[in-house]
Amino acid sequence: MDKNHTITILGTGYVGLTTAALLAHSGYRVYAVEPNQTRLDVIKQGKSFFYEKGLDPVIAAALEKGSLIPTDSYEVSVPASSIVFSCVGTPDNPDGSSNLTYVFSAAEEAGRLMAPDTIYVQKSTVPVGTGARIEESFAKLGKAISYVSNPEFLREGTALQDTLFFDRIVVGGNDHHATGQVLELYRALEASRTAIAAIAGVDSAPQKGEYITTSLSSAELIKVTANAFLALKISFANSIAKLADTVGADVVEVMNGVGADERIGRAFLHAGRGYGGGCFPKDVSGLIASGLDHGVDLTIMTAAQAVNDSMPGYIIEKLQRQLGDTLTDKHVAILGLAFKAGTSDVRRSPGIALANMLTRAGAIVTAYDPQAREEAADTLTAGVTQHDSIDAAITGADAVIVATEWPEFIEYPAAQYAATMQGTLVVDAINRLDSSDIQAAGLTYIGVGR
Ligand code: UDX
Repeated sequence: MDKNHTITILGTGYVGLTTAALLAHSGYRVYAVEPNQTRLDVIKQGKSFFYEKGLDPVIAAALEKGSLIPTDSYEVSVPASSIVFSCVGTPDNPDGSSNLTYVFSAAEEAGRLMAPDTIYVQKSTVPVGTGARIEESFAKLGKAISYVSNPEFLREGTALQDTLFFDRIVVGGNDHHATGQVLELYRALEASRTAIAAIAGVDSAPQKGEYITTSLSSAELIKVTANAFLALKISFANSIAKLADTVGADVVEVMNGVGADERIGRAFLHAGRGYGGGCFPKDVSGLIASGLDHGVDLTIMTAAQAVNDSMPGYIIEKLQRQLGDTLTDKHVAILGLAFKAGTSDVRRSPGIALANMLTRAGAIVTAYDPQAREEAADTLTAGVTQHDSIDAAITGADAVIVATEWPEFIEYPAAQYAATMQGTLVVDAINRLDSSDIQAAGLTYIGVGR
């Protein structure tokens, strides 16, 4: 295949591996570059090293076709490609700002190896202004490399659907030919999306996505602003939940009524234990830090962050009041360690925060998650015992906290909670359980704002 149809994707996390596997079914040869040998070996076997619905069959089929080439080598992949995507990690620094070490080192190494006229596409979430810095460093190389910002909006758990049946593709940059070339990739992906969805076994959605071309800094800002706004909606719902708790209203009913207004919408107004994951917490703190760098105080986001940080403690206080004001030696079972259902990702997971806080407070904590067991092991404090089933985790428990909306937790019969636990407290930290079923089984239901 010619160079014009060869792409390199640097980094094989949720964004990189999904993008690589899908573009490898859209008429391109794709190098997926992963320096970690353990991860690389898993990908070479036709699998992803994290759980994402539908991704494994897409990887396996692309490997079989020969259109997806996993490698650890920049030397092999980058010079052979006309477009290089940066999908490397952007963790946060201890002060909340974005750590751009990988972003800059990937750009530097690729810059050294890229052929003239290559397009470098930034998919990693970076603070506004990062692209201009990288563009400057490329200009010094004298190879006419174009820089394009193409922020990613996929959600874990629905990464394939979100990418194939997108709401919008945003590309920003100073070189219009380059932004046009990047849009071409997505048009090719759109043309093959139904066939790819069939390979993945995920549902097709009929929607027509928008293609949006902007300036470089606007594209960078669109990404973080979108995530910050969604985080803001969640923290807003959680603030109202606290008020609902004190006045005896039900926040689920409230937000259902509020969200019925088309101008507001129901999405991301679901109150509970707060947001976690690899995006919202760090995008919010990154935006606050980036505002401060430019002398802009984003108080509204500082408030959203504070509300979110308060939620696990708020839930534990509610539980503690029911347990007779002490958690010492109380057995609490946590159901759900992934930061949301459909993923094994435990980054900034509220379930883990709850488990660790309870352990510190002297409780005996057991936990179960259908996908996150391995990934949770590193972040759970030593006192937490993980089990392989709901039954095993809740046996003899004084209280159960449901922290992730896995269907098996929501569908678990209330009578079985009652029969297996020792106590009667069921804390619904996701506000998804049927409170009347739980009460009918003789248990006490504790929601968040209900
Ligand atoms: C998010 C963005 O949605 C996505 O567009 C971006 O590219 C990456 O960040 P993700 O982190 O995968 O995606 O998960 P998302 O489904 O958005 O949920 C984030 C967190 O918010 C989860 O912990 C979820 O449980 C929580 N959440 C979500 C709520 O607490 N209430 C809601 O109403 C919605």
